[in-house]
Amino acid sequence: MMPPIAPPETAGQKLTPAQLLDASGAKAVLALLDDELIGLAPVKARIRDIAALLLIDRLRAEQGLQTRPPSLHMCFTGNPGTGKTTVALRMATILKQLGYSRTGHLVAVTRDDLVGQFIGHTAPKTKDIVKKAMGGVLFIDEAYYLYKPENERDYGQESIEILLQTMENHRDDLIVILAGYKDRMETFFQSNPGMASRIAHHIDFPDYSEEELMRIAELMLEQLDYRFDDGARRAFAQYLALRRQQPHFANARSVRNAIDRIRLRHATRLFSIDAVPTAEDLSTLGAQDILVSRVFANAAAPPATPAPQPAGA
Ligand SMILES: Nc1ncnc2c1ncn2[C@@H]1O[C@H](COP(=O)(O)OP(=O)(O)OP(=O)(O)O)[C@@H](O)[C@H]1O
Ligand SMILES: [Mg+2]
Repeated sequence: MMPPIAPPETAGQKLTPAQLLDASGAKAVLALLDDELIGLAPVKARIRDIAALLLIDRLRAEQGLQTRPPSLHMCFTGNPGTGKTTVALRMATILKQLGYSRTGHLVAVTRDDLVGQFIGHTAPKTKDIVKKAMGGVLFIDEAYYLYKPENERDYGQESIEILLQTMENHRDDLIVILAGYKDRMETFFQSNPGMASRIAHHIDFPDYSEEELMRIAELMLEQLDYRFDDGARRAFAQYLALRRQQPHFANARSVRNAIDRIRLRHATRLFSIDAVPTAEDLSTLGAQDILVSRVFANAAAPPATPAPQPAGA
């Protein structure tokens, strides 16, 4: 752990914290986080703060000032599709660049990966996962499922005990990030104060606004070499307004899924045209590719623009 942050060519030179952040490569990842993730201003700010703290901590160590290895276990709360897994992956890279993670890899698990069905199965399962994650980040999605108070002898408790020990004894070689819904996570922490006290950073991921969801869609399309024409943009805005009110809405993940279905319909539509498609045809999504979604059919009020055909997802 703790290799020098600066690459060899800057060794010996006195650098400002900002220059060091740049030299470590973490600045580039932070910039990518800004560019590739829409919104999430409070999340991005917290990650910058953590990066700053770690860097300053290293400078303090180099000056012989008191340092305590910072606790980096975190909790990411938020609704589905708000970017928790994506940010955790970026966080792992940043931690590696700042010298706080050996490998920068992330192992993502849920209860089933950690807890066995039978007596004696849980400890080896949890220890195996911990071993896989050593040197990097262990990301536990829906962590509250580890604790089932209704079952008197639930094996989840055994897994929690092992995780707690690891979080304490290997805190300089394994970072644990718990993720899940905010309210359930709070209940989990109330029943598991040992876990709560080991989590240094709580980061809340807000739901995206309709405008942010639209920007997320346009970013995803741009990355895929597609675009909405003006009609499609209006139709997709209507789609978002309706979809957000419906069950199982999952923020940016729903946007990604919607785009996949729109691309399917667009592809089928091009087959119905008896002409060689141009690059423009191949990349332009139209309102008709969106308005056939069953989101409009399910909605109480019909869309402002008439939906031509029934069916389709
Ligand atoms: N702010 C954003 N900008 C652009 N794309 C985003 C943003 N947030 C999430 N995405 C994209 O949305 C998808 C879902 O994100 P992710 O898997 O990180 O969400 P999550 O919070 O982990 O969801 P879950 O709780 O369901 O696991 C991914 O494809 C991701 O790239
Ligand atoms: Mg996730």
